[in-house]
Formats: sequence, structure tokens, C-alpha cells
Amino acid sequence: MPRLHVEGWEPVSVELGWTLLEACEEHGIPMDSACGGFACCNACRVEVLRDGGLSPLQAEEEPFLDAPGQRLGCQAEITGDADIRLAPGM
Ligand code: FES
Repeated sequence: MPRLHVEGWEPVSVELGWTLLEACEEHGIPMDSACGGFACCNACRVEVLRDGGLSPLQAEEEPFLDAPGQRLGCQAEITGDADIRLAPGM
């Protein structure tokens, strides 16, 4: 199982194909999701701290991101070990 490390929390084991939002919800890590995971609120934005471990950036995410390395937690799927920092809002 891949390992997800969210800065400030202990690393957790997660399922391949889960979104970051699903993984955080499963493990009690407080990632916001005001729109319910439909890529329209930006509350789930994260900074990726290490390359790899996530699905490719989706076009739906781009309007919400203002720096390289950011993703929407509800759209980024886990493909391997990943390290992130929660960075909601703008
Ligand atoms: S939960 Fe709203 S954009 Fe991800």
C-alpha cells in the first residue's frame, strides 16, 4: 500500500486510486471540501512536497492553483508514496 505523509500528521497507508481528499477523510486528517469534491471550491488545495505518487494534473484544477506544485486534493489520485502540505484557500 502507498504511504501518504501530510505535513504535521503521522504517515498513513492508503489505497491506490483514492484521491487525497478520500485518503485524508479516511484517516481523520482535516482537509476541507466545501464543494464535496467537485473541483469548484479550492478548499482542498495542497502543496506537493515531493514529486511523484500522484496522478497527472487535471485541467479542472488549473484555475484554482497559483504556484507550481499545487494540486486539488479532490482531484489528485494516489499512484504511489506522496508527501503533501495542506494549503487551503487563496
Ligand atoms: S473539495 Fe472543492 S475543490 Fe476540492
